[in-house]
Amino acid sequence: MPSNGNRDPDWLTAGRGHVWWPYTQMQTAPAPLPVVRTHGTRLVLADGRELIDGVASWWTACHGYNHPHIRAAIEHQLAQMPHVMFAGIAHEQPLRLAQRLAAHLPDDLDHVFYSDSGSVAVEIALKMAMQYWLNREDSSRTRFVSFRHGYHGDTAGAMAVSGPGEGMHGTFAGLLPEQFVMPLPVDRASEAALSGFLAVHHEAIAGMIVEPLVQGAGGMLFHEPAVLKTLRNLCDRHGILLIFDEIFTGFGRTGTMFACEQASVAPDIITLSKGLTGGTMTLAATVANARVYAGFLGDDPEQALMHGPTFMGNALACAAANASLDLFEREPRLQQVARIAVQMREELEPCRALRGVRDVRVMGAIGVVEMERIDDLAALRARFVEAGVFLRPFGNTVYLTPSFTIAADDLSRLTGAIRRVLA
Ligand SMILES: Cc1ncc(COP(=O)(O)O)c(C=O)c1O
Repeated sequence: MPSNGNRDPDWLTAGRGHVWWPYTQMQTAPAPLPVVRTHGTRLVLADGRELIDGVASWWTACHGYNHPHIRAAIEHQLAQMPHVMFAGIAHEQPLRLAQRLAAHLPDDLDHVFYSDSGSVAVEIALKMAMQYWLNREDSSRTRFVSFRHGYHGDTAGAMAVSGPGEGMHGTFAGLLPEQFVMPLPVDRASEAALSGFLAVHHEAIAGMIVEPLVQGAGGMLFHEPAVLKTLRNLCDRHGILLIFDEIFTGFGRTGTMFACEQASVAPDIITLSKGLTGGTMTLAATVANARVYAGFLGDDPEQALMHGPTFMGNALACAAANASLDLFEREPRLQQVARIAVQMREELEPCRALRGVRDVRVMGAIGVVEMERIDDLAALRARFVEAGVFLRPFGNTVYLTPSFTIAADDLSRLTGAIRRVLA
């Protein structure tokens, strides 16, 4: 990696050659930004510069950084008990959290299985769906339907149900099980195609997985709530378990606590992470409804859900998640998201007139400027840093997913930087 000049702190110079960054060609990538502190919606760099963060650390830091309530909860838990294994042991934070998640989630999504990252939560959802059928002595339902441009994570099962590009199906062909990756049923033709496909293949299908309302890493693509209704109907017709991956959309990002509320549709299994701990600790949950949970009950130990991460139910992470839920319950987060949506609509709309812009769209606290193409992502990212903001455009997409607590003038500085840099 080339250096960014002589401002690098010692720990970066000494450590850089020993660390791999994600999706990064280490030989040519520009030097990463040394961040030494965060506060509110700011990243503080080693040289003292402050950047306004438009990404909220991959869409997680919904309450801004260093929220005192979450920090106090973690500190308190740290003094009591940072971690203890979950098998055969119960402790307060994960149990309280499970009860609260069940109360927030729609329908009878009441049974929480913890893990430590979004990808693993998806793996668990897939295993849960498949084992549900095995427990019913149906060994033919082993495959999954998913959708083009979907992204569900970087582990093997999650890659296999992601879109071919997002799941890198070509690169990892030898590793990935083949799944049925279909066009999302957004119009009559694609709906008929999916319906016809399921009519033929449903007996081989354990579940269907989709990111409700927004396909995030696949390009921040939006679809109508009606699509989710269609999927629910098709799954009901063919006895297929419906899985909503709300790892990105959950916890207010689309304007409601969970995206599926906008369609009044509940899945059989939901995956959560990212905003779950307000972006402070790594934690994920796979939550099943009563039907799925009941499918694992019985006298046979082999019918138990066969998964168990070492750091499952981590006390610090669950304390952070409980504190994050306190904030959702006490502070006007969804009103803040609505205000952000109005402001982003107004301030990003002028981008539509810029050369090379294909679309401008906003849903909740997600603002997107889709370009015809971006030739040099690294150069574009560097120009945003020069403009005093941290953005992470990918593919042909420049986007904002700020903290819900961002001040109106900071948001204006983000949208202003996008307008100026893209002009
Ligand atoms: C919808 C969705 N599912 C799963 C994942 C994977 O989560 P993680 O990166 O925590 O493994 C992501 C990450 O961006 C995501 O957006």
